Amino acid sequence: MQVMAIANLKGGAAKSTTTFNLAGVLVEAGFQVLCIDIDPQKTLSEAFFGVKVKEQTLSAVLAKDGLLSSAVQPTSFKGLYVVAADDDLKAIKSGQTQIEGGELRLRSCLTRLKANLDQVNDHKIDWVLIDCPPSLDRLTMNALVASDAVLIPVDPGAGGRVALADTLEYVASARKWYNPTLKLLGLLITNTDTRTIYDQETTRVVREQHGDLVFKTVVAASVRIRESTESQVPLVFCKGSEFNRYAEMYRALKNELFQRITVKERSKE
Ligand SMILES: Nc1ncnc2c1ncn2[C@@H]1O[C@H](COP(=O)(O)OP(=O)(O)OP(=O)(O)O)[C@@H](O)[C@H]1O
Ligand SMILES: [Mg+2]
Repeated sequence: MQVMAIANLKGGAAKSTTTFNLAGVLVEAGFQVLCIDIDPQKTLSEAFFGVKVKEQTLSAVLAKDGLLSSAVQPTSFKGLYVVAADDDLKAIKSGQTQIEGGELRLRSCLTRLKANLDQVNDHKIDWVLIDCPPSLDRLTMNALVASDAVLIPVDPGAGGRVALADTLEYVASARKWYNPTLKLLGLLITNTDTRTIYDQETTRVVREQHGDLVFKTVVAASVRIRESTESQVPLVFCKGSEFNRYAEMYRALKNELFQRITVKERSKE
């Protein structure tokens, strides 16, 4: 089971859109994927996947020692599961609700989940993607501590670059204090219009500052990508040739990602 956080302090940097479409691409490649929405905004689970929280909430799992497996819900896509975000995550975020186990809580939940799921073979999860909130708080730290790897979607503009520096520092502290093997998989330039001088220039600056850490794949800005989240269908499953170009971008991202972590392709059963 590979666990990957999608994080960035910057709001609107396309964390949820990246998580949504990467999940689609991984499922298309034959993997079983669990998305955990740890952002109280509920964008990924409620807005994009249309999955609302049921009895067992993520906040209760984190704060009251519940089982993560009982918060897992299916989506309309085979092999794709979601743990939905809920309103009480706000109290955890603000520190109003304490988490027993602190920063290590989600990590221990995932270790238990893995043990539970391994016993039930057909529910095996290959990938866990954690969509973080736009803040460097205890929810994001819990995600970073629970993860093998982190991917950072980047807004290459001036404000985005400042937020990126802070995010990288936060990743470094997660590694230093809790998770020494956490791998920074890469920076993804996304929601960008390469036809504009502005986007060309800001992209150049990010590449100059961060070199090979930046994925070669760039996800273009397109209304098709907004349409896909609006219709709650990841791009790779959207009907219509107008979506192909954008689905291809996420497939290319997945391939680069696999090269970086040397995961073997799994053919569709
Ligand atoms: N490639 C793209 N083309 C067009 N619009 C995009 C693209 N990627 C993201 N967006 C839009 O940008 C906005 C922010 O995207 P998203 O919600 O994924 O960002 P986020 O980083 O998760 O935001 P938050 O920090 O609030 O969690 C959304 O309206 C989304 O539809
Ligand atoms: Mg989001």
